[in-house]
Amino acid sequence: MKVLFTGIQPTGLLHIGNYFGAIRNWVQLQHKYKSYISVVDLHAITIEYDPREMRENTFELALALYACGIDLEKTILFVQSEVPGHAELTWTFNTITPLGELERMTQFKDKAKQHRKNVNVGLLDYPVLQAADILIYKGEVVPVGEDQIQHVEFTREVARRFNARYGPTFPECRAELTATPRIMGIDGGSKMSKSKGNYIGILDSREEIWQKLAPAPTDPARVKRSDPGTPEKCNIYSYHKLATPEPELNEYVAHGCRSAAIGCLDCKRKLLDNMMKVLDPIQERYESLSAKRSEVRDTLDQNADICRKASAETILEVKEKMGLNPVWKV
Ligand code: ADP
Ligand code: TRP
Repeated sequence: MKVLFTGIQPTGLLHIGNYFGAIRNWVQLQHKYKSYISVVDLHAITIEYDPREMRENTFELALALYACGIDLEKTILFVQSEVPGHAELTWTFNTITPLGELERMTQFKDKAKQHRKNVNVGLLDYPVLQAADILIYKGEVVPVGEDQIQHVEFTREVARRFNARYGPTFPECRAELTATPRIMGIDGGSKMSKSKGNYIGILDSREEIWQKLAPAPTDPARVKRSDPGTPEKCNIYSYHKLATPEPELNEYVAHGCRSAAIGCLDCKRKLLDNMMKVLDPIQERYESLSAKRSEVRDTLDQNADICRKASAETILEVKEKMGLNPVWKV
């Protein structure tokens, strides 16, 4: 079985962009690959944060991922900082990474602009840690949203460079995208993101979601209810495509919009119903898992153990290839 690796930062609650753009795919792929999913707290500390919140967010994210359908037994979900090998491998990768390559990374440039007062070395080194995450388990399949493609490409480059210099060691991984790798925010203007506040949370209640949907922009050409609309120009329709199955999607939503048989509010009410059909079971599982916190904690501990063992093997191999084990051990 090929190894799948992916990571997610504990920077707040999950939104439907995360779920439909990435996590839903992880849930499906866990049956096909040996799956590692990491709550990447070492990545999250590269921007300003509150240590107490970080601890809370890390556990809450693990709970939410299990609630989304990550399998407690099948998938190795773990907290990145519990496994020292990630940071260790990062250091060795640092020594084969040209500085200019990191300075050119889009996410670094964006974040450096956003956090001008805290452009720390960790922020620059972020992609190298990500490469170490993936390669330490010899991951080949990396399911992510569109914004992470550059980091996966970079990881391939690290693997190639290491293999060329020290001999074949790491596989070349590939990004695996969903059919919807870029879900727009509720404002319709930019990518749905925690930091922009334009999101629908997966744990939001029906009422909260309605408050966000009701005023959300639709096809701007549809001014009056009797005006026919163009679903492809409507952000609400893009959400329908995530949650509304056929034939309802085409017959009720798309056709209803084009022929003005339904108004935008009817369309949004239908979306609310269908979105809740996806979110209700997730929220129910979240509730029941919340009552079994110690069980989840135990699983995370056991998984960190598995990862420490697996990563130690790679570290040993790397040290041997790089000439880092002392001569008396050869
Ligand atoms: P955020 O951008 O809200 O901080 P993260 O960076 O923690 O989210 O992303 C976690 C995962 O979800 C990544 O695989 C990322 O590519 C994916 N993702 C985040 N936002 C979206 C979106 N709007 N559409 C599709 N995928 C997304
Ligand atoms: N950088 C990723 C994000 O912001 C998170 C991440 C860290 C990751 N390590 C990873 C994703 C390894 C895939 C593989 O979404």
